[in-house]
Amino acid sequence: MKLLKAGLFAASALWAGMAQAQDVIKVGLIAPLTGPQAAAGQQIVAGVKLFQQLNGNKAGGKTIEILIKDDAAIPDQTRRLAQEMIVNDKVSILAGFGLTPLALAVGPVITQAKIPAVIMVAATGMIVGTSPYFVRASFTMSQLTAPSAQWSLENGVKKAVTLVSDYGPGLDAAAAYKKRLEAGGGQVVAELKAPLADPDFSPFLQRAKDLKPDALFMFVPAPQAGALMKQVVDRGLIADGIKVIGTGDVLDDDQINGMGDSVLGMITSYNYSVAHESAENKKFVEEFRKANNNRRPNAHAMGGWDGMQAIYKAIEKNGGNTDGTKLIEAFKGLSWMSPRGPVAIDAETRDIVQNIYVRKVEKKDGELYNVEFKTYENQKDVK
Ligand code: PHB
Repeated sequence: MKLLKAGLFAASALWAGMAQAQDVIKVGLIAPLTGPQAAAGQQIVAGVKLFQQLNGNKAGGKTIEILIKDDAAIPDQTRRLAQEMIVNDKVSILAGFGLTPLALAVGPVITQAKIPAVIMVAATGMIVGTSPYFVRASFTMSQLTAPSAQWSLENGVKKAVTLVSDYGPGLDAAAAYKKRLEAGGGQVVAELKAPLADPDFSPFLQRAKDLKPDALFMFVPAPQAGALMKQVVDRGLIADGIKVIGTGDVLDDDQINGMGDSVLGMITSYNYSVAHESAENKKFVEEFRKANNNRRPNAHAMGGWDGMQAIYKAIEKNGGNTDGTKLIEAFKGLSWMSPRGPVAIDAETRDIVQNIYVRKVEKKDGELYNVEFKTYENQKDVK
């Protein structure tokens, strides 16, 4: 009798476990939480957690469970963690990717396993084309850069220098800036590239200063923004009257207050500012600061937030069905109002479509902000 009871109990526990497993959809979030890109990973995770805190953990009748793993920004780790989470944890979706090489490392894995992967930071244009299972919630470098080149042309820049990190997004940004500036009659007289690992920007900045350009256009991954801008200020490029501009990564909202008043008036173009004027953003920033020790959210937190928004919407559209091929179809053509403004997932390319804003640094209540003053609506990745 005892044995029969124990058997029945085991069977019902097993059944309950199976039912529970079917009610849960697991999302494997891989981000750099240690190492030089840790700030990007922390922002992604904070954006993802805030989304669940404010929107609950249910979508399409299922419980959405997030498994968080640290790849320390090492591509081999990203690939290994992706494989482990697909095989052992049975995740239905992967997400995160705080640097271009980390996203590229999982392309073959997701193609073979037919598992969608939502990119929350990585911004090199070609990434989404490397697997039919990639979706991008962040931004692309040419999308961000085109308005900076346009601003340059409208503000008398004839001669420019570019300085970027020497890898995918930097090369995309430099090429996009040069193409547009030169199409409008300007000229890029030097294309400088700093190494991604442990960069010392000073020799490049000295070279840029010596060339006496009208403008210096820059891109580095956001976690390096503070180090770059300190050297820009120390070398006196802004004081010399060079228009120092860039994608918003170089004036990361998470670090700008440490850069000092020398950056006042600096122009950048980007998809998100903590100062974006909307009811959605006011609430997002307030709640983010409450949950994160008063830290400011940046574009990477926004990538985490909107990546989750896309995941919830795709799961809902499919009524909770977790088949990877059906799921990736569901992402195509989604649109919603984000704290950054209106966004959509292009139905053909699976890339993000969004407003890009031109911003100027201003001081309000003793703090520095990137204040948006011009909007380029519904921008796609432009080649
Ligand atoms: C990238 O590696 O694609 C990347 C990383 C950080 C950024 C932008 C792009 O801020």
